Amino acid sequence: MSLFARIAGTGSYLPPKRLTNQDLVDQLAAKGLESSDEWIVERTGIRARHFVDDGVHASDLAFEASRRCLAAAGKRVSDVDLIIVATSTPDMVFPSTASILQHKLSLAALSDGDDEGGAGGAAFDVQAVCSGFIYAISVANAMIQTGAATTALVVGSEVFSRLLDFNDRGTCVLFGDGAGAVLLEACEHDGSGPGILATDLHADGKYCDILCVPGTVANGRILGDPLLKMDGQAVFKLAVGVLEKTARAVLEKAGKTEADVDWLVPHQANIRIMTSTAKKLKIPIDRVVVTVDQHGNTSAASIPLALDHGVRAGDVLPGQTVLMEGVGGGFTWGSALVRM
Ligand code: UT7
Repeated sequence: MSLFARIAGTGSYLPPKRLTNQDLVDQLAAKGLESSDEWIVERTGIRARHFVDDGVHASDLAFEASRRCLAAAGKRVSDVDLIIVATSTPDMVFPSTASILQHKLSLAALSDGDDEGGAGGAAFDVQAVCSGFIYAISVANAMIQTGAATTALVVGSEVFSRLLDFNDRGTCVLFGDGAGAVLLEACEHDGSGPGILATDLHADGKYCDILCVPGTVANGRILGDPLLKMDGQAVFKLAVGVLEKTARAVLEKAGKTEADVDWLVPHQANIRIMTSTAKKLKIPIDRVVVTVDQHGNTSAASIPLALDHGVRAGDVLPGQTVLMEGVGGGFTWGSALVRM
């Protein structure tokens, strides 16, 4: 018998404000910049994305996704002894968005009449940009397997709209805001039950310039440029290579093959990257959960958002094997193989 971290529930949240490609094309046109719905759909598969209103932070989106996730798992926040939030758009420099989320969940539990609240467990953020959720779930899995935690809330939450340069047509049409969450719970079995079967993480810092927000805060001022910069073609080329490699690596670690995968839940950046990865792995496209068309690229939130979408649609079912994989700034990449 071994200890596994099983997914006991999922949840997600998108802010209500939805912008179609045409909405952004019109905004760009007002600045004299040319774009079109056709270009965006053909090059990326994106048709719409959601943006937060002023004053809404990553912890607010994480809170909504977490409440739905806890409800799906039948858990209270007082059951949770670990919260990890993957984000590149934290509420503030510190404390962590995870600590702020813990407080918001705890206050809501108290006002619901759960007088235990939910404070006391560990809470911290993970920063690996679009691979952040894969990093976070891998850390939570390791903590559960070593007995350091028993019930972990793992959240990806982003307000990427805050980082976008709306004068750069090459990037501002690609990203969106949102949050997704999973509740991991320790369980013991012989390997045939539910749980994370293997994880695989990588980074290569020599590529840090191809996707970055180079600014920072110092001495009361913003130093450098606080808006997103991307060499799209360089990111695209690296992404298709590493996603295939990490998928094969995680399958090998778990003693599985592509044929064992029921669902591929990849980072949702570009439909062309997703179909290329699926093709290389010989996974039919109808076994790939696709939300990029409606959400755009929500960075660390994209994989748990897509997973929750698949679960709530009744597509991703208990007992099925799900391959999640992410890639993003750093350069970072990785994957997690899970039996639901
Ligand atoms: O989440 C992290 C991972 N991120 C990614 O995976 C993103 C990876 N990269 C990509 O998805 C693609 O490279 C993009 C979607 C960003 C760009 O697609 P592309 O096919 O690589 O286009 P491109 O950058 O080669 O640009 C082609 C043309 C250029 O014009 P010229 O130089 O050929 O005249 C661009 O200026 O398209 C132009 N262009 C646009 N045209 C209309 C760039 N953005 C736009 C736009 N509307 N919004």
